[in-house]
Amino acid sequence: MAPDPVNIFEYEEIAKKQLNKGDYDFIAGAATDEITLRRTREVLDSIIMKPRMMVDVSQLDLGTTVLGQKISFPVMLAPAGNHGAAHMEAELATVRAAGKADTLMVLSSHSAKTLEDVAEAATGPIWFQQYFFKDRELTLGMAARAKEAGYSALCLTLDAKIVPKRERNIRNDYVGPVSPNYAHLDLGTHSWKFAADAPAGPSDIRDQATTWTDLEWLAGETKLPIVVKGIMTGEDGRRAAESGAKAVIVSNHGTRYLDTTFTTIEVLPEVVEQVAGKAEVYMDGGIRRGTDIVKALALGARSVLLGRPLFWGLAVDGEDGVSSMLEILRDELAATMGMCGRSSIDSIDLDTLGGISPLQQLFDRK
Ligand SMILES: Cc1cc2nc3c(=O)[nH]c(=O)nc-3n(C[C@H](O)[C@H](O)[C@H](O)COP(=O)(O)O)c2cc1C
Repeated sequence: MAPDPVNIFEYEEIAKKQLNKGDYDFIAGAATDEITLRRTREVLDSIIMKPRMMVDVSQLDLGTTVLGQKISFPVMLAPAGNHGAAHMEAELATVRAAGKADTLMVLSSHSAKTLEDVAEAATGPIWFQQYFFKDRELTLGMAARAKEAGYSALCLTLDAKIVPKRERNIRNDYVGPVSPNYAHLDLGTHSWKFAADAPAGPSDIRDQATTWTDLEWLAGETKLPIVVKGIMTGEDGRRAAESGAKAVIVSNHGTRYLDTTFTTIEVLPEVVEQVAGKAEVYMDGGIRRGTDIVKALALGARSVLLGRPLFWGLAVDGEDGVSSMLEILRDELAATMGMCGRSSIDSIDLDTLGGISPLQQLFDRK
């Protein structure tokens, strides 16, 4: 038997061997040249941690809240379509693992299981992710279904209006299933062909005309708090908060839409500054280590979210795989906090980090 993976990268290595190429590439891949995908890890790795001595770290408290809901550590599961690509039990397994870890899962509207079935299997807090559809009744209808099923916030993904060019999917002729959440709509298949005349399935029903006024409208219509996902500039963060979002997720969709953007950690401080406490700020993109979590928190994120790692956990061992993957990150987070002299989430501040290089600071002072 293969040894248990000891970190998230090893989860991916094992998952890669178990998944078929099309599914692996769909999950791991990104837009066009995947330049920002590679830079994401480089930038996170280049940020320096400062170990601190002689601080009482005998009692660590990793707990926090997101929109008033308690989570046992500041790591949530990001909305991601079709967990069925990695495991038969799909989102049912993921949501159970999230509950066991006492954290929150955001369910993608492209889930392999219905949003109602996932809500039924949930033992922890759940949010529902969707889009602005051209059909406003469908937009409100999905949100109402989610509220009815027990989801406590609506996560609106703003960065997926345009069909992206993901070359791995094109080469593999990858066609994904359409979610049973859309069963009543007869949408065909979800092809990633990227040609003007290619059937885009569920992408076709998304509204490309939306502006901030539409967010104000939806915030007024739905009873659920709105979390906006896909913010990559301070100004958009501020506009989102002013238009009624209660939280924003700094995200470039795991670099799956536009390539050669900044990485999310690079724009996080700017978003935090411009949102200026009017909404909570979370971040996703490339989080694979406890040190990454501390870096994001030190730069102002309230919590981070994981995308690809949940698929690696599922592929390795279903619900238990996602659980162990989350526990590895929790242990790494606790160890990092302890070594940095931080005993609570709130105490993780900018002084936890040493910038990019102390040598650069030496030159900056001259
Ligand atoms: C296979 C896959 C499917 C995804 N599907 C969605 C989706 O349906 N809706 C959404 O808002 N984001 C989706 N995302 C983006 C994630 O929510 C998240 O932003 C990203 O994966 C974070 O980066 P990471 O994978 O490096 O952790 C998806 C990501 C992956 C890898």
